[in-house]
Amino acid sequence: MNVFRQYSLLTLNTLAIESTAEYFVQPESEIDIQECLQFAKSNNLPIKVLGGGSNVVMSDQVSGLVLQFSGSACDVLHETEESVSLKVEAGYSWHEFVMFCLSQNWFGLENLAYIPGNVGAAPVQNIGAYGVEVKERITAVNGVYLDSGQVFSFTADECDFAYRESRFKQALNGKVLITSVEFRLSKAPQVQVSYAPLNKMAEEKGMPTPGELAQWVIQVRQSKLPDPKTLPNAGSFFKNPVVTEAEFKSLIERFPKMPGYPQSNGVKLAAGWLIDQLGFKGRAFGPVAVHELQALVLVNRGGAGEDVLSAARQVRQAVLECYGVDLEQEPRLFS
Ligand code: EPU
Repeated sequence: MNVFRQYSLLTLNTLAIESTAEYFVQPESEIDIQECLQFAKSNNLPIKVLGGGSNVVMSDQVSGLVLQFSGSACDVLHETEESVSLKVEAGYSWHEFVMFCLSQNWFGLENLAYIPGNVGAAPVQNIGAYGVEVKERITAVNGVYLDSGQVFSFTADECDFAYRESRFKQALNGKVLITSVEFRLSKAPQVQVSYAPLNKMAEEKGMPTPGELAQWVIQVRQSKLPDPKTLPNAGSFFKNPVVTEAEFKSLIERFPKMPGYPQSNGVKLAAGWLIDQLGFKGRAFGPVAVHELQALVLVNRGGAGEDVLSAARQVRQAVLECYGVDLEQEPRLFS
């Protein structure tokens, strides 16, 4: 296992921010990970865990040991006629995993096709798209505490999943490395079509097979979301905010067309709509701009982490001034 010094993270983050890690290592196994933890301890280095780099804003310099687990095994734990239970190592590319499951006729992840990042990051922000959240398919999350090297295994209930939230983003933020995720998938083809663009396609073409649904999702994502390889970005830059019913009532009086989705704890707004209505699509803030097709995405044309954060602050401020709604940033700072 090689430990690199002053290692460029440029190609390891989808915003393509030029950033240098003081130390960088890619362990492949759990034994490697324990070795890395020892190395960090003996050299008094803080450990920074990097996944697929699709939800982070890098600073110019990242101190300590940046650790990116590359294990990508996928094992069947248990199988019945109806379902399969899998254990998947964190370094497996998320989209490749979704497509692999489809090739095996294991169903349930189609709506989450084409999401950038690795399997290990999926539970951290409870990735969700087109009416499905990954928490619905996860049965357990396994990992290791960075300070003690002790391993853990949490059931899905113990992960405190919520919209774009989990225990790993809260109390355990920066304290653990996720090594594998366990899923239960169905062997019976079933499709969930309950999201505007997919409903429209189903009206035109009839209900899809799971494989077709995954292709539709890929098509919709490709039509709205920029490909990080050609236009660096971190997907949705803000969470969709939830306001109280009373707040929504007063907002809708001022903005009758504002979309609102009732939730158990209030009404969820579409942050993309709020930003779009300000006329911000395509608006540049130095090297960083609001994407022309989806206002919730910031694209980076060569800017540093600070440029991305500055653009985000300006968008957030404009939204606050116009609607009185404070947006929460999705990508985490990596410094
Ligand atoms: N909208 C606009 N203008 C825009 C963007 C959106 O008016 O520029 C409106 C749309 O017309 C729609 C509403 O806002 O009425 C919601 O838009 P959309 O369906 O595109 O979804 P989103 O809320 O913008 C969320 C996720 C996406 C996920 C999609 C589909 C969050 C923060 N984002 O976006 O996740 O793919 O739903 O389920 O919840 C990601 O995390 O990187 C991501 C792309």
